[in-house]
Amino acid sequence: MIGLVFSLAPLSAGDKGNVELPKDFHSWNHVKSMVIFDKTSPFYGFHHVYVNDKGLKAMKKAEPYPDGTVFVAPFYDLVMEEGSYNQGPLVQTVIMKKNKKFAVTDGWAYEAYKAGDPIPQVGTPEAAVEACHNCHAGQEKTDFIFSKNMNE
Ligand code: HEC
Repeated sequence: MIGLVFSLAPLSAGDKGNVELPKDFHSWNHVKSMVIFDKTSPFYGFHHVYVNDKGLKAMKKAEPYPDGTVFVAPFYDLVMEEGSYNQGPLVQTVIMKKNKKFAVTDGWAYEAYKAGDPIPQVGTPEAAVEACHNCHAGQEKTDFIFSKNMNE
């Protein structure tokens, strides 16, 4: 991918942002994967969506997500090799954590991290409104989550 999905002014080192990057999400529940071929799209490349156990239960029952639900989506470059499309290096990781204190974004804390960079890219609930939530807001019927579990 050519850059970040969202270009925001980076914060300082040590800032915790809206959500810290979970370290163990690769062993969580895989929800879906997607490849976007359009190089002009900010979502160009491979991505996977993971959810923790708390969120998976609600997703299966199509209920609103409880506080503590976390969705993580790492984005990777797309590499064409010997006739196949392969997942390339990590570009960035986006996170949504359900937390009713984040009222300005309807109860979701949004954050994004560039590959190898511990500095959060969104930083505050207010910054997340324009950078993230305005687009997710259309998914109100599914508690602002786009993904549906594809592994049934
Ligand atoms: C232009 C629209 C748009 C913006 C802006 C946007 N997203 Fe998303 N987001 C999507 C779409 C579409 C999906 C579903 C991708 C899929 O189906 O694999 C998604 C999926 C996600 C997911 C997986 C859970 C879900 O809803 O499926 C997370 C986590 C996420 N986005 C976080 C963020 C964060 C953090 C930001 C801001 C830094 C952000 N998004 C900004 C459109 C957007």
